[in-house]
Amino acid sequence: MSSSLLAAAPWWRPNTGDTLVIRGGRPLVGSYPISGAKNAVLPLMVSALLTPHLVTLRNVPATLDVAVLATLLQHLGSEMHWSANGAGLAVTICADRLQPARIDPDLVTRMRASVLLLGALLARCGEARLPLPGGDAIGRRGIDFHIAGLRAMGATVELDGGMIHATARDGLSGADILLPLPSVGATENLLLAAVLARGTTTIRNAAREPEIADLAACLIAMGAKITGLGSHVLTIEGGAPLAGAVHTVLPDRIELGTLACAAALTDGRLFLRHGRLDLLGAAGALLGTAGVEMHEVDGGVMASRAKGDLSGVDFTTGPYPAFATDLQAPAMTLLATATGASTITETIFEQRFRHADELRKMGANIAVRGRTALIRGVDRLQGASVTCTDVRAAAALVIAGLAASGETELAGLDHLDRGYDRMAEKLAACGANITRPS
Ligand code: UD1
Repeated sequence: MSSSLLAAAPWWRPNTGDTLVIRGGRPLVGSYPISGAKNAVLPLMVSALLTPHLVTLRNVPATLDVAVLATLLQHLGSEMHWSANGAGLAVTICADRLQPARIDPDLVTRMRASVLLLGALLARCGEARLPLPGGDAIGRRGIDFHIAGLRAMGATVELDGGMIHATARDGLSGADILLPLPSVGATENLLLAAVLARGTTTIRNAAREPEIADLAACLIAMGAKITGLGSHVLTIEGGAPLAGAVHTVLPDRIELGTLACAAALTDGRLFLRHGRLDLLGAAGALLGTAGVEMHEVDGGVMASRAKGDLSGVDFTTGPYPAFATDLQAPAMTLLATATGASTITETIFEQRFRHADELRKMGANIAVRGRTALIRGVDRLQGASVTCTDVRAAAALVIAGLAASGETELAGLDHLDRGYDRMAEKLAACGANITRPS
C-alpha cells in the first residue's frame, strides 16, 4: 500500500509512529499556514480526467487522501508530475490515455470522494465500474442522488454485489435535476458529468459549499460554461471538449476554524496564514459568540481568545452557509471547557458524535440524545488515551490534547493523515509539545 502511494505521490511520507503524544497546556503562538482545502482538492483532481490536456493544481495539501486519489488516478492511466516550492505542493495531471477499467477496489473503498470518478469516467469514457465507495463511518452516506442524477442524464447504472456499473455508450445528455437534499458530493459528481454531456443540465437544490464554486471555477478555466456559482441552481451548457487549466486550490475553511478554536482554547494567538474568514459561513459568528476572536489581517486571519472565558452556545449544523458539520467536532472540544451549557444538533450525518465518547475520557461532560449533544463546560480537560473515529474527530482530539493538562496519547492517526497536511509539524512550530514517536 505505502509503496504504491509513493509511486503516485512521492512526497507522501508514510508515518512511522502509530500514536501522537501531546503534552498539553502550552499556548499556541505563531504563524500556522492554512493548506489547500481537503474537500476542494479531491474533486479538482478528478476534474483532470475530463480532458486529455494538462491540468495543474497549486496549493495541494499533502494529505493521505490526496496520495490515495493520486494512486487511483495513476492506475486509471493518468500521469502525475509533482513539484514543491514555497507556495506548497503542485501537481500537473495528464489524462490523455485513460483506462477506465483499471480501478483498485481497495483504494476506492478507502475514500468516499472516489465516487466522483463515476461522473467523470462516465462522461469521458462512456463507462465506469467501481466498488461502492468508503470513507468515514459517520452515517449511512447513500449515493442514491448521484445515481438518480446520472440516470436522468441517460446513463444506465446497475448495482451488483457491492459494485456500481454505469454506462452511457452514446454519451450523456443534459437534464433538469432536482436534488432531494443539497448534497455536496452529488452536486460535484453531476457537475463533472454535465460539462461533457450534450446540451443543458440544470442542477436544482445544488449544494453551495465554497468547494463547489472552486470546482466550477476550475472547470470554467478549462472552457466549461457554468452559471449560478454560489447559488442553489447551477446551469451547465455541456458538450464542448475541455482544454487544460492552471488552478489554485482554495484555502481550507475547516482547518481555519479548527485552528482558531485551538488558539482560543490554549489562550494563545495564531496568525492563520492564507485563511479566509469569509468562507466560514455561520460558524464565524457563532465561534465569535463562544469567545473565539478572529479578524482578517493582510494575508490571513488572526485568532485568539476574546477577553473573558469561553461561553456556551447552541448551534445546529446544516448545508453551507449554516454551521459546517465538519467543524462540529472541534467546536465540541471548544465548548467542553466553556462557561455554562451548550447544545449541538447534528442534521447532516446521523452518527457524527463518536468523538463525544473520546472527549468524555478526557473529563468532558457531554450527553448525547439522538441528534443532539448537551455539553456542560468543565474547568479543564485532562490528558488520556483516545482514538480518532473520523477525520474531523481526529482534529478535535488533537486540539483537546493541546488544551488539556497532562499527556494525551492519540491513536487511529490514519484519520488525521487523511485530512490534514502535516498538522503535528505545524503545531510544533507554534509551540505545541506534540510528537509522533516511532
Ligand atoms: C462532503 C464532504 C464532507 C462533509 C459533507 C457535508 C467531501 C470529500 N466531503 O461529504 O467532509 O462533511 O460534504 O458538508 O467533500 N446523501 C444521501 N444520498 C446521496 C448523497 C447524500 O442520502 O446520494 C445524504 C448523506 O447521507 C448525508 C447528506 O446527504 O446525510 C449530506 O451528504 P453530502 O453533502 O453528500 O456529503 P458528502 O459529499 O459525502
